Amino acid sequence: MSGSTIIPWVVGNWKMNPIQADATQLIQQFKTLLTQSTIDSDACHIGIAPTLIALDRTHQALSSAPCKVYTVAQDVSRFAGTGAYTGETSAELLVDSQIQHVLIGHSERRDLLGDSVEILKAKLHNALQAGMTIIYCVGESLEQREQGLAEQVVLQQICDIASVVNDEQWSKQVVIAYEPIWAIGTGKTASPQDAQAMHAKIREGLCQMTAHGARIALLYGGSVKPENAVELAACPDINGALVGGASLNAQSFYQIAQAFAQSKQ
Ligand code: PGA
Repeated sequence: MSGSTIIPWVVGNWKMNPIQADATQLIQQFKTLLTQSTIDSDACHIGIAPTLIALDRTHQALSSAPCKVYTVAQDVSRFAGTGAYTGETSAELLVDSQIQHVLIGHSERRDLLGDSVEILKAKLHNALQAGMTIIYCVGESLEQREQGLAEQVVLQQICDIASVVNDEQWSKQVVIAYEPIWAIGTGKTASPQDAQAMHAKIREGLCQMTAHGARIALLYGGSVKPENAVELAACPDINGALVGGASLNAQSFYQIAQAFAQSKQ
């Protein structure tokens, strides 16, 4: 089943980059490109996920962009509300600062920062309860792919969250990003055929879990750049991109957003 009528998403994941002066310049350059462009919010949802400390000023800076650009949090606490949790930022506090979107389950958080399935479920639950839109990341390692386990691993990661997402939330608040770990920051992209094949499997799995499965946006991530964006965007079940390295260059990020906006028109 194809999700080609879905409005695409292009989200820049800045990770632990850049310093403040460079971020200011990057946003300014991106806004200038948008001023000259034909991309509108109906053609593509665009988001930028800066570091926690830069969320507020990024949100302010993007409020004067010529089209809607969401400011996206890279993470959220597994604890809800307010309380004695040193270093944590809850979904409620993000929403209180007008941040309505969050990445959950990025492989760097799963592998380097101890985000277990239980922790991810708590984060997801809290973010959904607070009304946020979640970009939930899944993806297999190279070893798992070589062992022929890629599909099983990815579908399991989706099943992991089934118990905390209700049908209405699937339809309105969840976006999935498939990011094969071996393609992240390595310059190696999954071929459009391989990415499409996995996206089709994910969509099939989602359709078994929710009546809204055919309409959930499925983003691809892993070394997306202007050179491969057009081909990836042409795949029927690839409804956008989660972009790391290339989002730190305004022109590259803009070209990727343009590729997806144009392909789905
Ligand atoms: P990359 O990162 O585009 O640099 O591979 C993608 C991501 O980790 O979201």
